[in-house]
Amino acid sequence: MDIRKSTETDRVAIAKIHTKAFGEEKGPEIAALVNGLFDDPTAAPLLSLVAVEKDRLVGHILYTKSVITDTDTPVSIRLLAPLAVLPDAQAKGVGRKLIKEGLDQLWDAGVDLVFVLGHPDYYPRCGFMPAGVLGFEAPYPIPDEHAGAWMVQALKDGVIGRVKGKVQCAEVLDQPQHWRE
Ligand SMILES: CC(C)(COP(=O)(O)OP(=O)(O)OC[C@H]1O[C@@H](n2cnc3c(N)ncnc32)[C@H](O)[C@@H]1OP(=O)(O)O)[C@@H](O)C(=O)NCCC(=O)NCCS
Repeated sequence: MDIRKSTETDRVAIAKIHTKAFGEEKGPEIAALVNGLFDDPTAAPLLSLVAVEKDRLVGHILYTKSVITDTDTPVSIRLLAPLAVLPDAQAKGVGRKLIKEGLDQLWDAGVDLVFVLGHPDYYPRCGFMPAGVLGFEAPYPIPDEHAGAWMVQALKDGVIGRVKGKVQCAEVLDQPQHWRE
């Protein structure tokens, strides 16, 4: 399996991955969100990676630019959303490889922090930890019972503890329905 940056011609296959992975109810909305983010200037620079198995796209991950408001400390941050793997390719390490390759590329690009709203049993395996208790507020309030789903990973030492504040995401993601677990 190869991981590479996506191209414009991958858009249809990427939409299909999200539609199938997230299911009939949520899938079309997520596919539309991804298309919107590709065209959203406030999401740039974005990092979009696909997993390719025998010429077939089986997974996709998107990292988009975000900012921390109410801090004077210059800090470079990204938001991981969404991640999807085709049902017949799941549980083979594809998701984990997409996350890790993305984090490596963001580290190379000098990014300090990466945030995600996701399954609290899944992302800690790739180094994420609860973000709320570290002083990072999500763009929309996360109910207490799902507080563990709002997570962060530091790619550089010394950022966590020095920086706190509210995360402001790209405009297309900045809608309450995208922040419900
Ligand atoms: C979540 C998802 C991206 C994981 O991708 P994947 O390639 O199947 O995951 P990996 O192979 O890297 O990891 C598999 C492990 O994660 C676990 N896992 C998968 N989905 C999980 C979830 N929602 N919550 C907790 N653990 C999960 C599997 O049980 C498996 O555990 P094991 O290693 O102990 O057997 C994929 O299942 C998917 O596309 N799901 C539908 C869309 C979705 O929920 N996206 C994430 C939004 S936050």
